[in-house]
Amino acid sequence: MKKTILTGLRPTGNLHLGHYFGAGQNWLKLQDDFDFYLEIADVQALTDNFNNPEKVRLNVYEVAKDLLAMGINPEKVHLFVQSKIPEIAELTVFYSNLVTIARLHRNPTVKTEISQKKALFGNDGESITYGFLGYPVSQAADITAFDGDLVPVGDDQLPLLEQCREIVRKFNSIYGETLKEPEQYLSNTSRVKGLDGNDKMGKSLGNAIYLVDDEETISKKVMSAVTDTNKIKKDDPANPDVCMVYYYHKLVNKDEDQLNNICSECKKGARGCVQCKKELIQAMNNFLKPIQDKRKYYEENPEEVQKILDKGTKEAREKAIVQMDKVRKAMKIDY
Ligand code: TRP
Repeated sequence: MKKTILTGLRPTGNLHLGHYFGAGQNWLKLQDDFDFYLEIADVQALTDNFNNPEKVRLNVYEVAKDLLAMGINPEKVHLFVQSKIPEIAELTVFYSNLVTIARLHRNPTVKTEISQKKALFGNDGESITYGFLGYPVSQAADITAFDGDLVPVGDDQLPLLEQCREIVRKFNSIYGETLKEPEQYLSNTSRVKGLDGNDKMGKSLGNAIYLVDDEETISKKVMSAVTDTNKIKKDDPANPDVCMVYYYHKLVNKDEDQLNNICSECKKGARGCVQCKKELIQAMNNFLKPIQDKRKYYEENPEEVQKILDKGTKEAREKAIVQMDKVRKAMKIDY
């Protein structure tokens, strides 16, 4: 029996290289070995975007196309839309009795997000909704609805996973052994830096390269990338390890010889940054071309995308219904 893996992402924008190298690439490997549930978390996206439903709706399809273009295989992965699984909402209601408000406020991920909101809106937290504060409960429902063994997420999501495990333990101790405690699936992927040298590539940071970026956009972005600031003249020797252009070459450039040349020539002062950036633009376009070609197919065939989501959602729902039956029995509400 294959183990069950579940992960999700919020449909709030197109996927970028941070998603690809930080998570997606790993998902492509997992799809062969696990029973893989991949959730487009529109309900969770609405906790932050309830006043912008058009944005969430549009991005459900954008993210689906990005994932398929990237190589997520709908024959292997159950790619589904969260709001189409009512059992998740149902579980969220029952789990909400098992977690205190104080505990949610102490969740480090929630805490960070609340302080960001306070900084943004300049109030004392009056705008924090019940739904937002409770999204870790809903995420616990996401995971347990499919009896997930493993959750491949980055460290920033660990407090949410820990909260899920606590809910599971509480549930089992009150209603009897019913749910499984999920574990983090560790992978060797890590956070991807931004073109500006920021530790994280992110939409809100304005430093991302999107899978859908065309050649002109990529060219502009790469030309503005941060290089070794100690290098002033073209023939100054420099340190490629602090250069974002070299960093991205290592991610996308498949030409080993060119990579080695870049490193040694840069150290000797035998190449200029403009040449290096031009080569990166080429390598980046080569890397993105097959993804964009594949995406084009789905853009031209939106009904295919809908079919894939319908199929994945149907499969996911079948599993959630079985799990919900177990929960109802345990809670003595199986009237
Ligand atoms: N909170 C996750 C994020 O912001 C997305 C998510 C929703 C998720 N449901 C999930 C991740 C379940 C793992 C498991 O990226």
